[in-house]
Amino acid sequence: MKVTAAVGFAQENKGRFLEELKALLRIPSISTDPERAGDVRRAAEFVAAELKRIGMENVRLIETSTAKHPGGHPLVYADWLHAEGKPTVLCYGHYDVQPAEPLEEWKSPPFEPTERDGNLYARGAVDDKGQMWMHVKALESLMVAGDGKLPVNVRVIVEGEEEVGGEGIASFVRTHGEQLKADVALVSDTEMFAPELPTLCVGLRGMIYTEIEARGARTDLHSGMYGGAAPNPFVALAHVIAKLKDADGKILIPGFYDKVEKPTAAELKAWKALPFDEEHYRETEVGSVSLTGELGLSVLERTWARPTLDVHGMPGGFIGAGAKTVIPAKAVAKVSMRLVPDMTPAESFAKYKAYVESLTPKGIALDVRLIHSGDPIVVSTDNPYVKAATDAMHTVFGKETVFVRGGGSIPIVGDFVRELKIPTVMMGFGLPDDNLHAPNEKFHLANFHRGIESIVRFLSGVGA
Ligand code: BES
Ligand code: MN
Ligand code: MN
Repeated sequence: MKVTAAVGFAQENKGRFLEELKALLRIPSISTDPERAGDVRRAAEFVAAELKRIGMENVRLIETSTAKHPGGHPLVYADWLHAEGKPTVLCYGHYDVQPAEPLEEWKSPPFEPTERDGNLYARGAVDDKGQMWMHVKALESLMVAGDGKLPVNVRVIVEGEEEVGGEGIASFVRTHGEQLKADVALVSDTEMFAPELPTLCVGLRGMIYTEIEARGARTDLHSGMYGGAAPNPFVALAHVIAKLKDADGKILIPGFYDKVEKPTAAELKAWKALPFDEEHYRETEVGSVSLTGELGLSVLERTWARPTLDVHGMPGGFIGAGAKTVIPAKAVAKVSMRLVPDMTPAESFAKYKAYVESLTPKGIALDVRLIHSGDPIVVSTDNPYVKAATDAMHTVFGKETVFVRGGGSIPIVGDFVRELKIPTVMMGFGLPDDNLHAPNEKFHLANFHRGIESIVRFLSGVGA
């Protein structure tokens, strides 16, 4: 059996697979930081070189930088299309990572991958370099076991801008969709609901990421000389932000909830049956004295099936040590909203912008701009690929798969469904305490290896 041989190969080469992942994790491919553009490209080249080495074909970097989208990071493409009559799987991942700050909170340096207690700690360990590497290593194992042949046709597309909105891949999919022609997309960039519990993610929230810039006086002013007469853009933003959401987490933008679809009764029932301990979640995952959010809705419903609004930072003014008495001329608030089906980014942004502008405080000019956006999505589960995925994970974990949604966003998944018109299987192996986007991000090593085996079995199953 080739599957057994491939699984055996993955087992025997565990140590090497991990060392390779560490080398990739040492490259600080932070997509949002222009100073890291060279490192981002180095990560793309690293992935491309390995895809080539394992026997994938047509390996290339696809540039995404355009006049409209300057400084875009390259896509990595590869394929192997010689499994005649078999389906084509589009393997997707991202090689870019979030910034590592605050650095002082890391127990080991973010770009020096370190093993502790069966986990690998590094920025990008699970989101998404480690999970993307599972795809590459599953393909390698199948290639070796099949003497240079795969059981299915495979295209690989790995992007370097997921963490900044994924504009480059979105425009590639819209203009060159035929180059990614496939029957199903495989995405490993989500989490398992609990340790040891095989999970398929069937929905993601969309998002609009915005900035509100407030301008008051022509220049920074002495707050003693002008305080009482000059408008303060930070106070203005505080007033605006306070009117975006009430104390119970309800978003106050008129019409914002108009298109929100309630989860189906079947979904709500399935979510109730999941092993979820709200108190444990509050204490160990969130670590706050209480949880917040809309009254009467469960945490899972609030984080998976309801829109939210958050403020990420307010650059501007004086943030140095000690005190400086200044009325800043301008201030910015970075505000994002997560969207759920059937909300659209364009309509949601229009409502938000109109509402924010209607709140403009006296003496202040507001500029409301969209930084990036992505559609929410719920994928179908009624297809043979989902069956192949649950069968594969049943063999590996010995358990039935649970179906969940994710509160996060992977903007391109909506485009896979809408533009390429193919189902997506979101088979992720992160854990709830993996610290995505936070200090001490980790990947549970057992899941790295079980993930590789699951993907080997999935691809073989799709080809069977
Ligand atoms: N892998 C995450 C998304 C995710 C995490 C989905 C956990 C489901 C469960 C992805 O890398 C991510 O962080 N996306 C960003 C996208 C945004 C910048 C457009 C996000 O959700 O903030
Ligand atoms: Mn990710
Ligand atoms: Mn992420």
